[in-house]
Amino acid sequence: MRELVTKLRRHVLWLLLLAALPALAGKSCVDCHAGAAERSWALSKHGVIARIEVGRERRRTPDCGGCHGFEAKAPAPQHYLKKTSRMEAREQAVAGCGTCHAPRYVAEQLAAAQRGLALGEMKRREAEALVQLARKEMNATELAQIEKLLATLRDENLRELRLGLAHQSPDYQWWLGQAALDGSLLRIKGALGEARRTQARTRVAAE
Ligand code: HEC
Ligand code: HEC
Ligand code: HEC
Repeated sequence: MRELVTKLRRHVLWLLLLAALPALAGKSCVDCHAGAAERSWALSKHGVIARIEVGRERRRTPDCGGCHGFEAKAPAPQHYLKKTSRMEAREQAVAGCGTCHAPRYVAEQLAAAQRGLALGEMKRREAEALVQLARKEMNATELAQIEKLLATLRDENLRELRLGLAHQSPDYQWWLGQAALDGSLLRIKGALGEARRTQARTRVAAE
């Protein structure tokens, strides 16, 4: 009998350990999402206030898990097991705003975010159209520089804008987002103009 109890107890201990494993693995959001995702939040009013109030019993602004309840419940390296999960997570992240802010205020913020993103996408399309032309006109060396600028615009500037809008971070929206997109676009135009002038000069010299 006693043997059985000891055995059972061991099983129970194992079960408890297994149940606790996710928590033990317990990496926090920012262990895996350092960089722009964390910083855009940290520089937002939510982030600034949350850090001031750290340790207080009642905190007024949300940290990562306060909005990303979906990801907090599925913290593995893969949060989204179904195709629809990412969409569901997005909807949840936005639905929570209303627990602290007035509906009209939230609607205005979300509409402004849509407009900001549309503006960013417009800049991306303009850049892509220019690079399309460059691909027809230029040699590989000239093109390489322009492709690099396009990659920065698409993968960095646009992502930082998206994070700025999602996390209400003015810094990421305006400085690292829109202003950086404008900068990359200008540099693409500049490089394209420069390459065209060089080509024209070579042509004249050859004639
Ligand atoms: C163990 C590492 C890890 C932890 C901890 C983690 N994530 Fe993730 N997260 C990932 C990976 C990897 C991806 C991309 C794969 C995927 O889509 O599931 C991802 C994707 C995401 C995305 C979608 C990003 C995109 O670009 O589409 C969000 C939002 C996100 N995580 C939020 C969170 C939040 C909030 C937490 C904390 C509650 C968290 N994550 C904890 C690894 C992690
Ligand atoms: C005020 C609510 C809120 C807080 C707090 C918050 N997020 Fe978000 N986050 C959002 C919303 C809304 C989106 C846009 C919808 C989406 O992509 O899930 C988003 C998007 C993201 C994305 C995807 C961006 C992309 O590339 O499309 C990542 C990654 C992310 N958040 C990580 C974090 C991390 C890490 C923290 C904490 C440091 C955090 N978030 C805090 C609301 C929040
Ligand atoms: C847990 C409560 C809470 C949640 C959830 C929350 N907020 Fe906030 N938010 C606050 C508080 C508190 C402040 C700081 C006081 C203020 O400025 O109104 C704030 C500030 C803001 C600001 C900055 C206002 C300014 O004056 O600069 C914006 C924008 C904002 N929230 C939008 C959102 C959006 C959009 C969501 C959902 C994605 C959200 N909040 C979710 C509590 C919350």
